[in-house]
Amino acid sequence: MGYTDFSRKKKRRIIMKSDTKNCSNLLKRPELKNLGTFTSVYRNGIHKNLIDFCNINYADRERYQKLTESENIVSTFLFNIFANSNGGCILTSGSTEAIFLALYLAKTKGTAKGIIHPNIVLGKNAHMSWTRTAEILDLKIKIVNSTKKGLDYVKLEELVDRNTCLVVGTMMTTELGSIDNFQFLNNICKKKDVQLHIDAAIGGFIVPFHKSSIKYTFKELSNLQSLNVSGHKYGLSTPGAGALLIRNQIDKAKLSKRISYLSSGEQHLDRFLLTMNSLGIISWAAYIQKFQREGYANNVSDYLKVKMILCKNLKQMGFDIYCGSKLSPYIFLSHRHITDISKNLQDRGWIQSTYESSEINKQGIRIVIKKGQEEILTTQLLKDISEITNSLQN
Ligand SMILES: Cc1ncc(COP(=O)(O)O)c(C=O)c1O
Repeated sequence: MGYTDFSRKKKRRIIMKSDTKNCSNLLKRPELKNLGTFTSVYRNGIHKNLIDFCNINYADRERYQKLTESENIVSTFLFNIFANSNGGCILTSGSTEAIFLALYLAKTKGTAKGIIHPNIVLGKNAHMSWTRTAEILDLKIKIVNSTKKGLDYVKLEELVDRNTCLVVGTMMTTELGSIDNFQFLNNICKKKDVQLHIDAAIGGFIVPFHKSSIKYTFKELSNLQSLNVSGHKYGLSTPGAGALLIRNQIDKAKLSKRISYLSSGEQHLDRFLLTMNSLGIISWAAYIQKFQREGYANNVSDYLKVKMILCKNLKQMGFDIYCGSKLSPYIFLSHRHITDISKNLQDRGWIQSTYESSEINKQGIRIVIKKGQEEILTTQLLKDISEITNSLQN
């Protein structure tokens, strides 16, 4: 069966759930052809109301009631999905800032325990924001190997020592979409009396919305101390947004501050570091209100249906496909003509490039399936790839 036959049948089911009225606009927006990014490309009108908030500082939240409302919507939703209602939630511009704060907290706690040269232990599959922020905070980085089968947990346990202040696991790795085994990590942390952090920048708005046996909540993992999530990926916020969830009230207090800000007067900031542009949180809250648990769950099943269509058709076209987890809405493609395919796709307006995945040591391209791209991926992308591969074989 050719890709068109396959996609025609499946497409109807997928598009029914997506915003059909937006479909005619899809091709007018070049960012919809961005295959590699995790940043949301979805538009449903919410972004048009954001202009009113683009110059509003979150520290002015007593003055603008909408800010307090949005901050409550985002943090309550996150507390519910990650079972952390007794903990803290610091809202940020994205996961990198949240990761920086998580490392700062871990280092402060390590220092309080008498650790002089603190280290962190993470997988080779972790995002580069970890090494970048750890370097700034002068934390030693211990890296454990990871392959497409996952982390080397035996080696990881060996690397954790009395100077370790944090072990990091990833819920959907950037390159391949793998999910580390948080139960294994939690057991190691328990045994060694160390804290665990989950980087849920990508997986935070996927895993909790699809049935699986993955344990990731603060309730299920005793040593989980903090977790970060990005709002502008599958949380769908148009501007950058993120959050750091913290289990412990004492840790939360370390990041809070009493300030006096303009006409908002004296206030206790425990959900922000200090000042911040309000766009990201306003936008994220609007999407949370629109989708709720059920809407996000529908989005995830749509991504996975598109992934199935892509995998089936691309395999038939001779691609090797890697997807670290069944739940990840993205695939990594390799092919003997991958460089030429990538170049030809660029000529046709697709925004992507080849790179070498360190997890499988292969050159390939990443296709991240995002809301709003359902139609363009299952029709135009497959058509373009089919034409390109046919022309390269001739
Ligand atoms: C696993 C992971 N962690 C952290 C980040 C950084 O996220 P942000 O763009 O929200 O700073 C990314 C970005 O893609 C990521 O993939």
